[in-house]
Amino acid sequence: MAKLIIVSNRLPVKLQEKEGELQFKTSEGGLATGLGSIYKQDDNLWIGWPGQVVEEEDKQQQVITELRKESMSPVFLSEAEIKEYYEGFSNETLWPTFHYFTQYAVYDQQNWETYEKVNQKFCDEILKLANPDDTIWVHDYQLLLLPSMLREKLPDSTIGFFQHIPFPSYEVFRLLPWRKELLEGMLGSDLVGFHTYDDMRHFLSSVNRLVGYGSMHGWINTGTRSLLVDSFPMGIDYEKYAQTAASEEVEKRERIYRSNLKANKLIISIDRLDYSKGIPKRLEAFEKFLEKYPEFHDKVTLVMLVVPSRDEVEKYKELKEEVDEMVGRINGKYSHIDWNPIQYFYRSYPLETLSAFYRMADIALVTPMRDGMNLVCKEYVASKHDQTGVLILSEMAGASKELSDALLINPNDINQMVEALHQALVMPVEEQKIHMKSMQESIKRYNIHHWVSMFMDRLSYVKIKQLSMATS
Ligand code: G6P
Repeated sequence: MAKLIIVSNRLPVKLQEKEGELQFKTSEGGLATGLGSIYKQDDNLWIGWPGQVVEEEDKQQQVITELRKESMSPVFLSEAEIKEYYEGFSNETLWPTFHYFTQYAVYDQQNWETYEKVNQKFCDEILKLANPDDTIWVHDYQLLLLPSMLREKLPDSTIGFFQHIPFPSYEVFRLLPWRKELLEGMLGSDLVGFHTYDDMRHFLSSVNRLVGYGSMHGWINTGTRSLLVDSFPMGIDYEKYAQTAASEEVEKRERIYRSNLKANKLIISIDRLDYSKGIPKRLEAFEKFLEKYPEFHDKVTLVMLVVPSRDEVEKYKELKEEVDEMVGRINGKYSHIDWNPIQYFYRSYPLETLSAFYRMADIALVTPMRDGMNLVCKEYVASKHDQTGVLILSEMAGASKELSDALLINPNDINQMVEALHQALVMPVEEQKIHMKSMQESIKRYNIHHWVSMFMDRLSYVKIKQLSMATS
């Protein structure tokens, strides 16, 4: 039976060793949480890095055996590969460029060469496990060269590619010294997907200007084959979030947390520690809010959960210091003996804890400078079983294209964020419910299952269309 092979840099679990014993923990980030419920069906398989260096051969064998039981297969990376391919090219070159932080981008030839080698390594691992009629679905910016590498070895196979982060405007993309190779890598796919129409438009424009292929309704003809480019806004596992939030366990947790907080109004913010998430600007806005609306002192608390991420990368280390300093300064200035304006947690949390925070939060403050989609805001909405609560959402998140019932803000406009916070805090419950209900309907309908089937259906359609183009 033909299977679906999902490929991404990171597996949905990460390996940890405790007292010599192997353990697997759930990975962070939209990709892992988003696709987590899909890969275990049928004979499907997820191939990726298990999140740790494993050098000894017998330990590698043990990891392979354990992961296989859970429909996963590892690609092992060395220390040097992690440094140059993952921290280096993926996260110091592509990530800042694609998120419009071009001043942070590092251009390093050695990192590029390792990026190519590791993409080839992924290709070799896939070839060991794939049958010619399998569908291979490659994910994200760490593996942009992989579709063409696979196409070379499996010319007739079905290859989909989905990018979870933004695709920048041509003017930004062309800053990359390896821009043409990257595009050619992606063009090995049958279907290239992005979250938004704008990402797709930017990609088509870069392909046209840098590789010379025009497009018609998203179809690109390379001279030897045709492929389609389209947008597929990713959804969440709505029922999982709704049911967890409605569970007794989560209700109990909410009661405990509430009894420990003096403030009766709660603002939640949850992100990985990443400069694309706009954490310092968000803190600046909250500080200004406290200054402008002193009547809310004691009454409102910002619960800020920050999940550690890429902490070996310089810009992330710097950001950690900046956030620590800002939180300390704001709390130092405004705290009372029994009230802290900001409750700051730097660690990752299990779903039940996140769910309790979502459930009890009057406001979710989601203010990225740039975000491919942002699933946190969707998780918040799905968790509001009584349909109260207000979502403040950055226009720079892909999700803002779907969630027009949120209070949309420009994350560079501090005053606008201050007023949005005030507006959200005084919004009548009936008004909150109208907006929340409408957002819930849309997120429930366009859930993760819908997203997967839209992408897969379109991929099958591309294969049929290619055949009819070849015979006509
Ligand atoms: C984003 C990316 C993913 C990535 C995740 C976590 O969601 O789109 O590809 O896995 O961040 O980042 P990390 O570097 O820890 O894998």
